Amino acid sequence: MLIPNSTSMVDDGYFDSSPLRNDGPSTHATSTFIVANRLPVEWQAVSGWRPSPGGLVSALEPALKNLNAVWVGWRGSPAPEDSRGPRPTRPPRTDNIAIIEIPMTKREVVDFYDGVCNTAFWPLYHEVGIAPVFCDEEFEVYRRINQRFADCVARSAPAGAPVWVHDYQLQLVPALLRETRPDLRIGFFLHVPFPSPEEFETLPWNENVLDGLLGADLIGFQTASSAERFMAVACLHASVRREGNSLLVSEPTGTRRVTVGVFPIGPDSERFSSLAASPAAQESAARIRADFDAPELILLGVDRLDYTKGIDVRIRAVADLLKSDEFKGRDIQFIQVAMPSRSDLTAYQHLRATVEETLLSANAELAALGLRPIHYVYEAVPTEEVVALYVAADIMLVTSLADGMNLVSKEFVACRQAGDGGLVLSRTTGAAAQLHDAWLVEPGDVADLTRGMGEAIRAEVDETRGRMERLRQAVFTADARHWAEAFLARLNKAR
Ligand code: F6P
Repeated sequence: MLIPNSTSMVDDGYFDSSPLRNDGPSTHATSTFIVANRLPVEWQAVSGWRPSPGGLVSALEPALKNLNAVWVGWRGSPAPEDSRGPRPTRPPRTDNIAIIEIPMTKREVVDFYDGVCNTAFWPLYHEVGIAPVFCDEEFEVYRRINQRFADCVARSAPAGAPVWVHDYQLQLVPALLRETRPDLRIGFFLHVPFPSPEEFETLPWNENVLDGLLGADLIGFQTASSAERFMAVACLHASVRREGNSLLVSEPTGTRRVTVGVFPIGPDSERFSSLAASPAAQESAARIRADFDAPELILLGVDRLDYTKGIDVRIRAVADLLKSDEFKGRDIQFIQVAMPSRSDLTAYQHLRATVEETLLSANAELAALGLRPIHYVYEAVPTEEVVALYVAADIMLVTSLADGMNLVSKEFVACRQAGDGGLVLSRTTGAAAQLHDAWLVEPGDVADLTRGMGEAIRAEVDETRGRMERLRQAVFTADARHWAEAFLARLNKAR
């Protein structure tokens, strides 16, 4: 029997009801299952439902428009502890996407999301000098939550359905799902970089993670280097050998093929382009420039406040640039948006303090020279306002120390309909592999950042326009829909 009918999603007596469903127009009979930690919307007690943060949701949701999709995920906040209390509000309907919610208690959020996901895997996989913390008790919760996701899909997916599991929060799901539902076509996509074999070796649960991932038929990465690192790690396993871009896994029942592929994610380029062209965005952009007293140039940074994004190094580099003999006579405004993220974690609290101290001292130096202070915004800015900033800016600074892809860089390009504007981009983002026409920089090196920014500012109009034209070509030919279609087409053929 391939479709068990009694699998319980509730493995620990918590939340004694069926999963919260908010089925849209799809029936599950012909659906693609999306399994991601976050649902496309998140619930916050103060603000109610709103779009979830992060690149995964912003790229995946629009890519599903024409698919009959079911999205299995978490609402981004703990569910009420007491199941006798009122049931929490259901997520709002999302066009063409049926929602199945996976609940987590407060304690589970601490151990799973704050703990294993963002204090162990996130720093380990990004390798930016923040030491990961490993805790076996928390990993047990990670295993339990992964099992909860797998059970939910096992119970809901029709025979042979494609199931697309996302990211570092759910690395055990492919194998857990295969145990009960070998009929499903299981794909896994890692949105963040895969670490070097030496780094992965330090993970106490590396065998569990490898076994979990190898449960998939297709494993996708943002870059060729992540795919190669993963294959190198997998081939250390006695039961795995490589054949081209596949891994052959020996199992008691025979040999199983796991295909490995590179699928660089893109934004919903058309949506960003039409938002940018809208009268509302054009007016807001003009207002932004006017509010800053029409500077000669606006430099812009937009990031989640994360230690992978290199925000403090960028602030120092911009301050050096603005104070330099060459540029101190120019009228240049730098705007940095830092969106709050994972603010319960100590590393993120420290980061905020570091960034804001760096900003204060940079602004003191700039003020002493009579230069414009850096304008810093620490809040969750809605997409429409970010688009207005993309339109208002002249040069976008994306200088992450490590980034699986970085969609901000591609969104900026999608919004530059006038064909002008420059992009300064870190070599260590996945995006650098497609956006060769950006001014590429070493993100941890203040001098190299000022070099790249200086070149972007000095460039002749023709060079800037030529680069932007080629960047736009890259961003419009490989957008979110293209990414999802390419992955799902390969998943269909993956066995
Ligand atoms: O980069 C992968 C990703 O899943 C993005 O969607 C998001 O920026 C981040 O990682 C996760 O953020 P959060 O912890 O807020 O879900």
